[in-house]
Amino acid sequence: MKFAFIIDPIARLDPGHDTSVAIMEAAQGLGHEVYVTEANQLGVVAGRAHSWLQLVTMKPVVQVGNSWQSAPDWYQLAQRQWQPLEEMDAVFMRTDPPVTVPYLYVTYILDCIDKSKTQVINSPIGLRTANEKMYALQFADAIPETIVSADKQVIREAVERWGAGVLKPLGGKAGEGILFLEGSDRNFNSIIEVSTHQGKEPVMVQTYLPAAKAGDKRVVMLNGEPIGAVNRVPTGKEFRGNMAVGGRSEKTELTARDLEICQQVAPALRRDGLIFVGIDIIGDYLTEVNVTSPTGIREIDRLDGVRLGNQVVKWVVESAQAQSQ
Ligand SMILES: Nc1ncnc2c1ncn2[C@@H]1O[C@H](COP(=O)(O)OP(=O)(O)O)[C@@H](O)[C@H]1O
Ligand SMILES: [Mg+2]
Repeated sequence: MKFAFIIDPIARLDPGHDTSVAIMEAAQGLGHEVYVTEANQLGVVAGRAHSWLQLVTMKPVVQVGNSWQSAPDWYQLAQRQWQPLEEMDAVFMRTDPPVTVPYLYVTYILDCIDKSKTQVINSPIGLRTANEKMYALQFADAIPETIVSADKQVIREAVERWGAGVLKPLGGKAGEGILFLEGSDRNFNSIIEVSTHQGKEPVMVQTYLPAAKAGDKRVVMLNGEPIGAVNRVPTGKEFRGNMAVGGRSEKTELTARDLEICQQVAPALRRDGLIFVGIDIIGDYLTEVNVTSPTGIREIDRLDGVRLGNQVVKWVVESAQAQSQ
C-alpha cells in the first residue's frame, strides 16, 4: 500500500520523539511505500486533490538504553512528483498546530479526496470540528470545571471561586501559553489582557487540578480504542507536564476511570472520523483531546516494549481491505 504523510518539514522532525516518524517507519517496515509532503504543497486539479509527493526511505531508530538513537542521515527523499492523492491508500494529516486559516484551507483540499479510494486520517471534517481544547467540553462528566471567555470579570469570578485555575489559549499545543492563575496574582488583569488579546479572543480557564503534580497522562486512541498510555510528570519548578517543556515520561497503566473516559469519548471520535487521537487525563479528568498531531508513540514503545506504529498501520490496512470488499 501507499501511505502519504502531510508533515512539518522533515528535517525539523525528531525521529526519536516524533509520532509521525514512528508511524512512517512502521509503514515502511511492514512493506509499504511512504511518501511525505507539506501542507502548502497540496492543491486541487480537475476536482481532485493533488500534492507534490516525495518517496522517503528511512533508517529506523534503535533503542540504546533509555532512548531512541537515529542516524544523522535517517531519511532519504526521492524526486518530488505531482500526483493525485487518491493514488495513495492512506493520507495522514499530521501538521502541528496552531490551526490557522491556511490549515483549514488544506482540510478543504482533503475533502476533495474520494473516501472510497483513500483513507484520510484524521478526517478533514473531524479536524475542522474538533478544536483540541473545546472538543472536551461535550464530555461534561469527564472534564473539570471549565469556562471559555474573553471577559476579565467572568474569568476572575471563576478563578476566585476555585482558588486557582489554569488558562489555556484555544489554539496552543505543547504547553504553549498555558498559565497558572490565582485571583491574588498582581498580574492577573494583565495576564488576561495579553492572553485574550485585549478581550478579543476567548481562552479556556479550568479549575487547577492538584493531581497534575503526579502527571498528565497521554492516552493514544485508535478508532476509539485506547492502545497505549504514557504519564508526563512536571519537573523542577515547572507546573506543566508537557514533554516539550521538560516533562518526564513515565510508564503508566490505564485505570478504571481512564477506561471510562475513553468509553465516553469513543462514539464522538468515531462519529467525527477522528481515528488517531491523543487524549490527556489529569487525575480523574479529561483535559484535552489532541487530534492534529498527537504524540506519545515513541515514549510508549520505549517504556512498554511495544510498537504502536505497527498497530496503527495494520489497522489502516485492515480497514482499507474491509472497505474494498
Ligand atoms: N486543569 C489543570 N490543572 C492543572 N494542570 C493543568 C490543567 N490543565 C492543564 N494542566 C497542565 O498544563 C499542561 C498543558 O495543558 P493541556 O491542556 O494538555 O494543553 P497543551 O498540552 O495543548 O499545551 C498539562 O500537561 C498539565 O501539566
Ligand atoms: Mg496536552
